[in-house]
Amino acid sequence: MSAEPFHRCPVLDPTARAAHAEAAALRARGPAVLVELPGGVRAWSITRYGVIQALTTDPRVSRDFRRHWPGLAELPDGWPMASVALQQSLANTYGEEHRRLRARLAPSFAPRRVEAMRPRVQATADRLVDALAAVPPGESVDVRRALSLPLTMTVICDLLGVPDHLRTGLGTAIDAILDTTIDATEAVLRQVELQCRLVELLEHKREHPGADPTSDLLIPAAADQEESSEQQLLDSLFLMLGAGYETSVNLITSVLSELLSHPEQSARLRAGGIDWTDVIEETLRHEGPVMYMPLRYAIEDIELGEGVSIRRGDAIVIAFAAAGRDPAVHPDAPDTFDPTRTDKAHLAFGYGPHFCLGAHLARLETRIAVTTLFDRLPRVALAHPDQPPPPIPSLMVNGPTHLDIVPTPAEPT
Ligand code: HEM
Repeated sequence: MSAEPFHRCPVLDPTARAAHAEAAALRARGPAVLVELPGGVRAWSITRYGVIQALTTDPRVSRDFRRHWPGLAELPDGWPMASVALQQSLANTYGEEHRRLRARLAPSFAPRRVEAMRPRVQATADRLVDALAAVPPGESVDVRRALSLPLTMTVICDLLGVPDHLRTGLGTAIDAILDTTIDATEAVLRQVELQCRLVELLEHKREHPGADPTSDLLIPAAADQEESSEQQLLDSLFLMLGAGYETSVNLITSVLSELLSHPEQSARLRAGGIDWTDVIEETLRHEGPVMYMPLRYAIEDIELGEGVSIRRGDAIVIAFAAAGRDPAVHPDAPDTFDPTRTDKAHLAFGYGPHFCLGAHLARLETRIAVTTLFDRLPRVALAHPDQPPPPIPSLMVNGPTHLDIVPTPAEPT
């Protein structure tokens, strides 16, 4: 946040270098604080647990920018948050339209469908951890690139029926689009690149349909429903790929980062004092993979107390990763990673009607990734324990840019 005088609108730091400290300062200021997002767009930042719950379930709050955001007309060209905020997918719909679109996608993510993926996820994790086990003793490797990224990309691409030859290009294009530090020209170039990769996928699926949600999307909806436009199809694909990929990559990497930088908790885990659920849920509380999710809009004036009211048409941005650190919910050292705490309440997967469709899948793949690594390579350690890696330069996703580990430390001589 910039060091501007108190009465001015704080500018969120697009590099997200100290996103938790920034959110804590905003939380202390009030239930909602008007902030400036990259590109000069203004929105009310919501960082308190209870206020996030209230606004995500309030029918006076919409995600539909087309119907409920007068500010849309004044947006700058090349706004770096446009790919997510202006996506024409179920994430940005409201009310009945949202219920209809969600009902169509939800079966693909039902617990039983996800459970059926377990053997393939395990096989992929085994293959990737085998490669890590083959790294010569004492040598380091970036586990984000070697395990988290290829595992989640394989899982989401298997689920959506993305053919092998289109996977790398899609992954790179999605990574690039989430950077909030780029200028307008670069943002437009990256948005065009992503659209090209999505068009390629859609054309491939039209020619080679299969039993997967991507092919389901192409089947015209029931006669009483409007057929989706080409842009809606592309954006729905991006939603599922982006939501299912970038978030889980960060959860897996953050779990490893937390455990390896807290050897006392790794020892407790091995001794059975805590289990993997404790570790994963505490990571979701402490380092939620989604920080700010743009945007929501007030349909009516909303009074929040403490002299703060959001006016009709104002934009709202929810800081989901900030909820888990709210001292009102976790008065005992909220900024400390402590998997032994009994209450690990968080809102990392959202809240209300837009609650994450992929939460079950994310927990499953994260658990498989980290247990496979620790079971096979129990002596795994950080390569640079005194140099925590920088966070990804994005206000939207939260996680380490890389995590160098030594899979098999050399025996002391
Ligand atoms: C650790 C991993 C994940 C995290 C932290 C996460 C987080 C979230 C959050 C916070 C939302 C709510 C956004 C809002 O209300 O504004 C959301 C929605 C969504 N997520 Fe996830 N997600 C994860 C993994 C996944 C996976 C693996 C998939 C699917 C493959 C997925 C698919 C979706 C979809 C489709 C929505 C939109 C739901 C709607 O608008 O009704 N997510 N996610």
